Amino acid sequence: MDKLRILGERPLHGSIAASGAKNAALPLMAASLLSAQPIELDNAPQLMDVRTLGAILEGMGVDVARQGSRVRLHAAHVRERFAPYERVKTMRASVLVLGPLVARFGEARVSLPGGCAIGARPVDQHIKGLRQLGAQVDVEHGYIVATVPSGRLKGARISTDMITVTGTENLMMAACLADGETVIENAAQEPEVADLAAMLVKMGAHIDGAGTSRIRIQGVEALGGAAHRIVPDRIEVGTFLCAALATRGDITVQACVPTHLDALLDKLREAGADIAGGADWIRVKADAMPGARARAVSVRTSEYPGFATDMQAQFMAVNCLADGAAHVTETIFENRFMHVQELVRLGARIAIEGNTCVVQGVPRLSGATVMATDLRASAGLVIAGLAAEGETIIERIYHLDRGYDAMEHKLGRLGASIERLR
Ligand code: EPZ
Repeated sequence: MDKLRILGERPLHGSIAASGAKNAALPLMAASLLSAQPIELDNAPQLMDVRTLGAILEGMGVDVARQGSRVRLHAAHVRERFAPYERVKTMRASVLVLGPLVARFGEARVSLPGGCAIGARPVDQHIKGLRQLGAQVDVEHGYIVATVPSGRLKGARISTDMITVTGTENLMMAACLADGETVIENAAQEPEVADLAAMLVKMGAHIDGAGTSRIRIQGVEALGGAAHRIVPDRIEVGTFLCAALATRGDITVQACVPTHLDALLDKLREAGADIAGGADWIRVKADAMPGARARAVSVRTSEYPGFATDMQAQFMAVNCLADGAAHVTETIFENRFMHVQELVRLGARIAIEGNTCVVQGVPRLSGATVMATDLRASAGLVIAGLAAEGETIIERIYHLDRGYDAMEHKLGRLGASIERLR
């Protein structure tokens, strides 16, 4: 299994460009199932998860052609409405094929995703919403088995028990082909939901309110094709900005959407970073902080536009070196502190108290061998390794490859000493 070898204490300097968002690319690819016409995606990140979903769609009979950051998907001849456990277990977002399959073909058999390192992550809200749209949904032998007895989904008012990103996306996609109006209350407001809606509208869907907590969809008989540029990855951008602060560097990230990172930028400013930005770039200058250390800043994750749970591990790494103590509270997932014990191996001082960590900043971290446990935890370990004194080896970085497009190359261009050991 691949590892990363980092020699730390090298401030990051320079400029890189953001890649397209993983959490937009996946629902956009699944949306290809809604139409017999081709979908052309641009700015697609080169990620394992994108390849995995591409393979699942190909297994159904979707024609998937990738060329660099362009992906063309054509679901003219979908033979199988089936997503097997062997594939779904490697990437839970595969559940995003459920809504489109039920809406267009009136049937689907999709493996339950199963557990995940960061939490149980059930899909009961996806199932509840599809039932409200008129689908017959059962769970049999680990599979979600859905049919539409009436022949076509029917619009409904849906209010999910909690805010769910892929739940909102699944139900919004299904509602596009339902008969009549659907209203999704308590909808997720993430930019990736709005990006999916933007492409669905290009395909002929009638959607209002995407990006707010209330989305209205007027169903249509059929959807056409579309060409769409995937929104930049705000979590990748945030990860690099935290790395700049942790290494007391000065970097600029181009081709991004600064307004998607308001909550994080506020916290980085509070920590002492000098932030500048324009329409599509952000600069974090952290090489002249008073006392050369960030200030400790407490964070509490919440749904967008709050502080992203996907940025929790990365910001915790910044707090590990900050001047003072900070609370990091995780409200979205029940087990998203697995990076803590690995950070402690690097010399961090962290105490876990339920869903809150108390992080007591230390002047220096010291390099060690650590193990990645999930995608964003591994990003937090990379940041800590970049700031730590000496050599850090990060094992099981296949977790990182799921969600970061060539991270070591981008960090290398910013002056990091980082290499992949095969
Ligand atoms: C999406 O996951 C993202 N993945 C996650 O990013 C992200 O962490 C998460 O949203 C929260 O922002 C993609 O978009 C592909 P949820 P999702 O449904 O949709 C509970 C990353 O690192 N819930 O919003 O699966 C659930 O257990 C990944 O890129 C139910 O109980 O998350 C969780 O506690 C990790 N029942 C909370 O809601 C349901 O039916 C939010 O989950 C659905 C969700």
